[in-house]
Amino acid sequence: MSSGPIVVAIDGPAGSGKSSVSKAAAVALGFAFLDTGAAYRSLTWLGLERGLDLTDAAAVVGLLRSFHYSTEVHGAATVVRVEVDGRAVDVTDAIREPRVTAAVSDVARIPEVRVALNEVFRRLIAATDRPGIVVEGRDITTVVAPDARVRILLTAAEDVRIARRSAELSSGAASTGPQLRERDRRDAQVVDFLTAAPGVTTIDSTELDFGQTVQAVVDLVRSTS
Ligand code: DC
Repeated sequence: MSSGPIVVAIDGPAGSGKSSVSKAAAVALGFAFLDTGAAYRSLTWLGLERGLDLTDAAAVVGLLRSFHYSTEVHGAATVVRVEVDGRAVDVTDAIREPRVTAAVSDVARIPEVRVALNEVFRRLIAATDRPGIVVEGRDITTVVAPDARVRILLTAAEDVRIARRSAELSSGAASTGPQLRERDRRDAQVVDFLTAAPGVTTIDSTELDFGQTVQAVVDLVRSTS
């Protein structure tokens, strides 16, 4: 068994509450937290800033050379920064803009991007100063950290996910359903995050509130530590 941090890998679809649940579970456990989707979003943001056609894989792969990404957690808040012309720019809010959400699947489907970002994730996991780290994304249980101590697939019924996502977004419910369905459809072509791989525990939050879902994750981690 490795002597590195305890890794809690959490995958799941958009709107499953993955990010907020993972962050709250990390705080409760005294663990660090890594939101891998934020890195895909940051690279997408940088591409849009540079005016690139993000469906042009070669252009996006070229962008990786100048992509320097850092993330800091302050309590429940995560600050994400990307280097632009030698300056670290805070992109925490910008990476949640609809233009980034609409384009991120094009970036995430490029194999060279996934390989490069997985290296970044593994470095960040190894470098944590906490006893453990909660890592959330789409392929953490299967590709990034298949040897993680705890591996979870966090799901919820689609209508519940759409309702939760609409409540989060100011843009309102009308467009959330089709957008969420379309993003899941495109992302699922790249990695299968809708079925649990062998050894992965499914937590279905359809009937659970936020606190109960966090508790289910914390209980599972404690039962395996
Ligand atoms: O979790 P999120 O919505 O912030 O993720 C943004 C995009 O990044 C999502 O559309 C899929 C992609 N992603 C991925 O392909 N692999 C990951 N480990 C995390 C995110």
